[in-house]
Amino acid sequence: MNVFQESCCSILGVLLVFLLQGSCVDSDAEVVHKAVGDSLELTADYPKDDLEVQWKYNGINFADYQNNNFKTVKPELFHERLKMNEGNISITVADLKLQDSGSFSIVAEGKSVQYKTKFIELRVHDLIRDAKIEYNVSWLQSQNICMFHLRCLASGDQNPSYSWTGHQIQTQGSHLNISLRPAESATLTCTADNTVSVRYTTETVVCTETSEEQRLCVKS
Ligand SMILES: *[C@@H]1O[C@H](CO)[C@@H](O)[C@H](O)[C@H]1NC(C)=O
Ligand SMILES: *[C@@H]1O[C@H](CO)[C@@H](O)[C@H](O)[C@H]1NC(C)=O
Ligand SMILES: *[C@@H]1O[C@H](CO)[C@@H](O)[C@H](O)[C@H]1NC(C)=O
Repeated sequence: MNVFQESCCSILGVLLVFLLQGSCVDSDAEVVHKAVGDSLELTADYPKDDLEVQWKYNGINFADYQNNNFKTVKPELFHERLKMNEGNISITVADLKLQDSGSFSIVAEGKSVQYKTKFIELRVHDLIRDAKIEYNVSWLQSQNICMFHLRCLASGDQNPSYSWTGHQIQTQGSHLNISLRPAESATLTCTADNTVSVRYTTETVVCTETSEEQRLCVKS
């Protein structure tokens, strides 16, 4: 009974995965990362005979190609930023903005053939201009160590992914805690990355003993 139930469930599970893939049209979308100001080219790469194409943005049809002609259907959507390229039947959205991030699709049909719709998931990012490391340090008397709290901070893009390397550390996230013994130092590099740009910054921290009463850990 148990064996039957298990195999039954796994078959159902497999079926469910197939059904979900079939109904979730975005599962085969191509994810494209662009920087603000870049262009996105959406090419209808099909035989030209009797070709009819619709370009859509978040489900809204904004441009057509029909009878060898382009037509802007929703001029207010990208204003003056659309370019039609006759030679290769493509549409270019120029001067991308953060809010252009969304789903594009290219629906095309030829003489008695409906082509598979192409889905493009656009993510527009600001360029990371700079990254810097800030840190605080506290002396833990009981353990005889300096505890450093480091934070990596990027400007430009507000939401890049951060990682740290150096001092036998390899970790993700904007924050990093490390402890050092007196006179020990560590050189750490933070990487801020958002797929369209990357910035590195390196900082050396030293655990310094300055007096019996008070131990300060200062920047080298
Ligand atoms: C399509 O044509 C445009 C305009 O001529 C050109 O800028 C673009 O590079 C072409 N794209 C491809 C994929 O050949
Ligand atoms: C350092 O301490 C200040 C004040 O307590 C705090 O605002 C700041 O976020 C701390 N920075 C780090 C990197 O922990
Ligand atoms: C670092 O230490 C602080 C204070 O002990 C803690 O709140 C924080 O979660 C720690 N961060 C990491 C990344 O371990």
